Amino acid sequence: MHQDIKKILVSQEQIEQKCKELGEIISRDYEGKKLVVIGLLKGCIPFMSDLVKHITIPIHLDYMSVSSYHGTTASSGNVRVNKDLDMSIQGYDVLIAEDIIDTGQTLKKVMEMLSVKGAKSIKVVTLLDKPEGRLIDFKPDYVGFVIPKEFVVGYGLDYNEYYRNLPYIGVLKEEVYSK
Ligand code: IMP
Ligand code: MG
Repeated sequence: MHQDIKKILVSQEQIEQKCKELGEIISRDYEGKKLVVIGLLKGCIPFMSDLVKHITIPIHLDYMSVSSYHGTTASSGNVRVNKDLDMSIQGYDVLIAEDIIDTGQTLKKVMEMLSVKGAKSIKVVTLLDKPEGRLIDFKPDYVGFVIPKEFVVGYGLDYNEYYRNLPYIGVLKEEVYSK
């Protein structure tokens, strides 16, 4: 385990198994549809990469980058688009892939932005869900793991841009925040 990690909340094996399960469900639900999976950079990368390997129907991939947390652990409620989609999603069934949903504000704003682009449907798959953190009503369609209201890192999730490469979801030691 990494020296800055206090405990592992979700193991690499649990994540691998979950990606397989979600991939199979999504493949069934979107059978015969024109699916595009849209990842929210940068946190989506490990999860989306493992998830799409288990999707067995033809799909497109695209990415968006938005910022909501500016180097702190508190949500600002502001969403800025740093990188927009490359493709037109007109007529597509869109599945947004996200690392974690906390307040729900990022996803709500992204869904509003995408809904005016002519998508046939828009759903959300998230690896982690922190329902206790919600500031607005928001329900993801596919959830990997529901976790308590704790700040986590790893498997795409960062603290000051570090720890995204950890192969598991962990909680940081308190002393890391005062470094
Ligand atoms: P929301 O708008 O509060 O739902 O924010 C979601 C975004 O905040 C995620 O995409 C993450 O980038 C970030 N975030 C929320 N909770 C955590 C956490 O526990 N660790 C790291 N990033 C988090
Ligand atoms: Mg994110």
